[in-house]
Amino acid sequence: MLLALWYIHFSGHVLMLFKKKKDIVGIDIGSYAVKLIRLREHKGGYQLQNMGMERLPSEAIVDNAIMDSTAVVDAIRTLLEEQKVKAKGVATSVSGHSVIIRKIQVPTMTEEELETSIQFEAEQYIPFEISEVNLDFQIVGTDEKDPSQMNVILVAAKKDHVSDQVAVLSECGLNPVVMDIDCFAVENAFEVSYGASEETLVALINLGASAINVNIVRNGSAVFTRDIQIGGNLVVEELQKRAGLDREEAEQIAISSESGSDPDLVQEILQDSLESLCQEVQRSLDFFAATSADERVQQVYVTGGVSLMVGLCEALSARLELPVEKLDPFQGIAVDSKSFDPEELKGVGPLFSVAIGLAMRRVGDK
Ligand SMILES: Nc1ncnc2c1ncn2[C@@H]1O[C@H](COP(=O)(O)OP(=O)(O)OP(=O)(O)O)[C@@H](O)[C@H]1O
Ligand SMILES: [Mg+2]
Repeated sequence: MLLALWYIHFSGHVLMLFKKKKDIVGIDIGSYAVKLIRLREHKGGYQLQNMGMERLPSEAIVDNAIMDSTAVVDAIRTLLEEQKVKAKGVATSVSGHSVIIRKIQVPTMTEEELETSIQFEAEQYIPFEISEVNLDFQIVGTDEKDPSQMNVILVAAKKDHVSDQVAVLSECGLNPVVMDIDCFAVENAFEVSYGASEETLVALINLGASAINVNIVRNGSAVFTRDIQIGGNLVVEELQKRAGLDREEAEQIAISSESGSDPDLVQEILQDSLESLCQEVQRSLDFFAATSADERVQQVYVTGGVSLMVGLCEALSARLELPVEKLDPFQGIAVDSKSFDPEELKGVGPLFSVAIGLAMRRVGDK
């Protein structure tokens, strides 16, 4: 079980049904806020047990790197106390520059064989020293054009990045047993609530404070992934720069869409910065379209805090000329309305997609 610590594990809720289940909390350490979710297995699905979010100071995590570990530790401890969570096992995730996700082809072999040769296979695809990364893979299936080959999703994450995160969680008395990737956690949460997309190509777009994770999926498998290093911070920074607001005022406006003392200017800035974010998403989908013969995305789901911004879905839909819907990760999860207000959950759901996907993981599942 401990081995999981040193591997990046893929989302795979289907396989989990056959595994021994242990109580695990999902902790998403985002640059805007740490989110905690605990789920309980319930009638073949999940029931919400705990949820909590704790803001981080804006310099605590910069470019995916933990700059102020004390602030992050404090936030996690606060969440554990508030939620009275006793579980020690944690599923968490990484993303950004130090994570590489590639679809590769290797000669057909068994999973055990690939396990022993993955380092060698990975060397040509990973721009870092193999000794400096944690590797994991998932076999997608035999290649349609060449049956002697199989398609594999290869994931590598720099060890120093993973270990920074592990250190923070250990300091909180927790035991990180599953290390996932943000975009796969979203995919897992999506599939539980919406089902695998079968033949439709669906783009899952997680819009956070400092990054946008794009994951195009089909039939329960990632077809294309990309991290864009821009997010809701852009909106806040533009408001600060162009409307002369301090950070707190700007953050408040970004969240509430209230117009402040100069409504026209503020609305213009909000619109411009949303357009910039949408443009980046469009660029990624255009890149995917250009590199993938005749495959086209048919449906887009947005999640992450920025998906709650007024007008985001409409702006993105207009730009992509595709249906865009907000992903509600609580949709497929049983909720006791005595403990949680379902309406409130709907309003904050997108902030918790990663944490929910993580909370669905169990020790050793793959
Ligand atoms: N209720 C809300 N309405 C609109 N925007 C919101 C709301 N809550 C948060 N945001 C915005 O969403 C962003 C935070 O989203 P999220 O919590 O998904 O980011 P994160 O996961 O902490 O960051 P990252 O993963 O990029 O490091 C911030 O830019 C914030 O301004
Ligand atoms: Mg995030």
